[in-house]
Amino acid sequence: MTSPNLDAAGRYPAGSAAFPHRSLTGLAGLAPWEILFLLDEAEQWVELNRQPHKRNDRLAGLTIINAFFENSTRTLLSFEIAGKRLGADVVNMHAAQSSVKKGETLIDTAMTLNAMHADAIVIRHQSSGAVQLIADKVDCPVLNAGDGQHEHPTQGLLDALTIRHAKGAEFAGMRVTICGDILHSRVARSNIHCLTTLGAEVRVCAPPALMPADIEALKVHPFHDFDAALVGSDVVMMLRLQQERMSGQFIPSPREYRHLYGLTLDRLAKAKGDALVMHPGPMNRGVEIDSNVADLAQNASGARSAITTQVEMGVAIRMACLDVLTRRTRGLEGWA
Ligand code: NCD
Repeated sequence: MTSPNLDAAGRYPAGSAAFPHRSLTGLAGLAPWEILFLLDEAEQWVELNRQPHKRNDRLAGLTIINAFFENSTRTLLSFEIAGKRLGADVVNMHAAQSSVKKGETLIDTAMTLNAMHADAIVIRHQSSGAVQLIADKVDCPVLNAGDGQHEHPTQGLLDALTIRHAKGAEFAGMRVTICGDILHSRVARSNIHCLTTLGAEVRVCAPPALMPADIEALKVHPFHDFDAALVGSDVVMMLRLQQERMSGQFIPSPREYRHLYGLTLDRLAKAKGDALVMHPGPMNRGVEIDSNVADLAQNASGARSAITTQVEMGVAIRMACLDVLTRRTRGLEGWA
């Protein structure tokens, strides 16, 4: 699959044959071709991951540290699988069992990881900006696996790859509606940066208390009425209520929330007939999404859920990011 903005020879813009950033801390500010470069690089790994033998030893001899200061299932597992499929030595650090619990500062933890000569560090942290702070201190590429409510770049990329596989390479003219706890969601922010950069129209829908005050600065169309937001949507992306980031009452009750903002089969019918349903997980079934929508194989008009495809694409995207960001370490063309 090729991207629309490559030149006729299938190359990227002159002088930009390699990804020019040392770390991946966010998608804000990336050029369209930089995002497409990572999506295109992931395609080979989608293929490999579907084979019985899923191993490529490109990163043999490199050490990758996954430092997770917050809970995770699919992101941690997929980064671990990605590193191992590329032949790297992968080590996981769980904050709950680390010296963080003994009062060590984030910088001291970062310097410790750095002293072990990691070749890439993958970090998830509850504070927005923590990953950039570490990226500025260490010598190797740093990949953001989610920092507070700031960004979750590999999620944005895997979602774009999922959309591209389902809907084709042309993002311009596509309408994507993201509904849920926009205020606290790093997934929403990375998807907004990614999809608007690629030319899609992005609608965001949330109750007033869960909509960021400055949302229009992100070049999206805000809605409080989910039924209105759904009209003409090619993709409907649902988000979990981020209770862990809420201090106080943001919604009346889960029942009331489902009534206004839950994706039911009836509501999905308001989107385009062949709409794609997405959710980054973990899902709260019966709150933001009903089970018969989350598990929708394909209805008569072509609407379907891509939630398990998102997980599949997640491994491929993380393989691409680890490969691309370690190219310079491996003596190949990479960040300057
Ligand atoms: C998301 C996250 O951690 O931001 N999960 C994920 O990485 N797939 C979304 C969430 O927790 O709701």
